[in-house]
Amino acid sequence: MALRTIVTYPHKALTTPALPVVAFDTALHALLDDMVETMYASNGVGLAANQIDVLQRVYVIDAGGEDDRQLIEFINPEIIEKSGTITWDEGCLSFPELYEKVKRARHVTVRFQNRSGAFKELDATDLLGVAIQHELDHIDGICFIDRMGPIKRKTALKEYQRMMQVRRQEARDHARELAAGQEQA
Ligand code: CO
Repeated sequence: MALRTIVTYPHKALTTPALPVVAFDTALHALLDDMVETMYASNGVGLAANQIDVLQRVYVIDAGGEDDRQLIEFINPEIIEKSGTITWDEGCLSFPELYEKVKRARHVTVRFQNRSGAFKELDATDLLGVAIQHELDHIDGICFIDRMGPIKRKTALKEYQRMMQVRRQEARDHARELAAGQEQA
């Protein structure tokens, strides 16, 4: 198993639809294992393959807590039924530090395959239901900012760009401090 690098917006993989999985082989299992490890290491609720620059219709979700793991691996998922609306304060590992309210279906029924290729069906609401919709958007090349109205999307992007600039500056400062430390040693 290995940690994968999570790409951040505006990486191209985040706006490119992924392709269906056809082989349920050891390569898929290795991908899933890496995604699960990467999601937990980042304290994420879900992670889609697009977010690690792999364009396959795969995502993992754990809507449980640290003491109550509820890992589900979704391959070739499809929402076959949805109803109601719910507003959820969403975040995304590809948009560090950005949290915004997004409107989603309250209840979804999702059909998907597990790592062996067996078909499954699942009814979900609340956090799990929202995560299923958020991650399904990722493999379609859609990000949560695209689910906001045009004005909110613009404001959120501006805020995100500002925060990313601060992060880059901090990284540069840190690198400079490290370099200075090495010179002294
Ligand atoms: Co996301």
